[in-house]
Amino acid sequence: MSAPARYAASSYALPPLPDGAALELTSLDASDAERLGVVFAAMDPWRSYGYPAAPLQAMMTANEPGIPCFAIRLDGNVVGAILIQPLWLRGPYLRFLALEPIAQNRGVGGALLAWLESEARAAGERNLWVVASQINTGGIRFYERAGFHQAAAFDGLAYDDRVELLFRKRLAD
Ligand SMILES: CC(C)(COP(=O)(O)OP(=O)(O)OC[C@H]1O[C@@H](n2cnc3c(N)ncnc32)[C@H](O)[C@@H]1OP(=O)(O)O)[C@@H](O)C(=O)NCCC(=O)NCCS
Repeated sequence: MSAPARYAASSYALPPLPDGAALELTSLDASDAERLGVVFAAMDPWRSYGYPAAPLQAMMTANEPGIPCFAIRLDGNVVGAILIQPLWLRGPYLRFLALEPIAQNRGVGGALLAWLESEARAAGERNLWVVASQINTGGIRFYERAGFHQAAAFDGLAYDDRVELLFRKRLAD
């Protein structure tokens, strides 16, 4: 078995999107995190939950050791953020992924899941993990299309009257 995937580089250049746009992951600076926090709080699923901008911003700037947070750049512009917990259950846990509305439905999310998976496979990991709210039907469709399957449901995990769903993609045969 190889060493676990750590997503430890300071930046990654991913293959261009089908429309030719350049896709990169870089460090996320505080001003972009502040702006994205406001954008994401106004967007579902966080808008429906009444989740404010400040904790979203704090999560993106926490700099927890070993938990990288990257800015998602499309043609050089920061359009989202991705936060990865590399060492979870025999594979990485995708803690957070969000794109500004203008960057959605262009294949960016799919490209990021493909990258997450290829890094994990290269390290011999067995699983990818992510949690989505039951109300986030678009997000659930996105992960299921990418080969994730519901592994567990948690009542009241984040809110008393809501359900959070854990999804797993098996990488091992
Ligand atoms: C969920 C999310 C990360 C997906 O990223 P994305 O870049 O929009 O995803 P993709 O473009 O790869 O695929 C999504 C949709 O675009 C379509 N699509 C993919 N490539 C496309 C392209 N080149 N052109 C047009 N549509 C495309 C897909 O068919 C899919 O359609 P759907 O509406 O049936 O689901 C993003 O939409 C987002 O940030 N949503 C809000 C936050 C959120 O829900 N995050 C997940 C929380 S767990």
